[in-house]
Amino acid sequence: MSFPEFKTKIERGDTVILYLSVTSIFPLQVEPKMTNKKGSLVDNIFQTVYGALRVSDLEGQRYGTKVALSKGWALVLAPTCDLWTQCLPHRTQILYTPDISLIVAQLELRPGSKVVEAGTGSGSLSHSILRTVKPDGELHTFDFHEGRADAAREEFALHGYKEPLVRVAHRDVCALGFDPVAAASVDAVFLDLPCPWDAIGHARKVLRPGGRIAIFSPCVEQVVRTKEVLLKSDFFETETIECLCKELSVQYRTHGKLHLDGNEEQERYLTSLPCASIPGHSGFLTFATLKPWATPCRSPILIS
Ligand SMILES: C[S@@+](CC[C@H](N)C(=O)[O-])C[C@H]1O[C@@H](n2cnc3c(N)ncnc32)[C@H](O)[C@@H]1O
Repeated sequence: MSFPEFKTKIERGDTVILYLSVTSIFPLQVEPKMTNKKGSLVDNIFQTVYGALRVSDLEGQRYGTKVALSKGWALVLAPTCDLWTQCLPHRTQILYTPDISLIVAQLELRPGSKVVEAGTGSGSLSHSILRTVKPDGELHTFDFHEGRADAAREEFALHGYKEPLVRVAHRDVCALGFDPVAAASVDAVFLDLPCPWDAIGHARKVLRPGGRIAIFSPCVEQVVRTKEVLLKSDFFETETIECLCKELSVQYRTHGKLHLDGNEEQERYLTSLPCASIPGHSGFLTFATLKPWATPCRSPILIS
């Protein structure tokens, strides 16, 4: 349990991040023993391209230190939700930090916010929501896949996120809505579902007047249908954004400089260049506000 609070020393049971390089980042559970494929309890040894690490050797070390592997070294870092997003076990497609940061800002989340999320998926976004709303906020997250809901609940508990901060429910929100939290009058709803329009009437029911909604959809046809239903369901200030990041690589380069007399000399410049690969389309993010003068609605508005 090392996500919610800053710690200096690694303890047994912590989740730590083993950082080999920008593209080689692994989560590790600091437990001295593990169960192998034959079901026997053996020493927990983690294999990397730079050799093996005896996981129990991490206990007592300071976060941020360099640790020896049998053929090299790695950094052992405290977990943050951004690092977790880079290395978490994928049970589904996930949201990445550029989209996540926009979602957290546009939903106006802060410590104490109450949030509804569907589906939970691999919990990538959930970790960032939890970091933002803790210590006294609430995240009610739903998934209709029982295995994914159970795995997310276990993972949150392992990371130190428990009830009442986070509640994971196994439920089809398009068919059944968010009823257990209907009385909570939440500040924000986030939907990452194939048919989000079927959940908007239910979201309208749990959202407080003036609350914000965000919907992630890969296809523009989904955006159009979603917007139509949002406008018929007392939402306004709708906005759709595609978040494309262009990273620049700042580096020294040497170029020939030609003088008027024909002489050429080599000169070193600090330049900025677009990175060789640029992440492409992830999806469209649609945001809206429930009209502050909207009357509380106890039964979902169902619009087909
Ligand atoms: C793309 S994943 C969500 C990923 C998540 N945003 C993340 O960052 O890890 C979509 C999830 O929605 C769930 N889902 C799809 N339809 C649903 C429904 N009607 N009710 C609840 N969950 C649903 C799926 O089981 C899946 O786990």
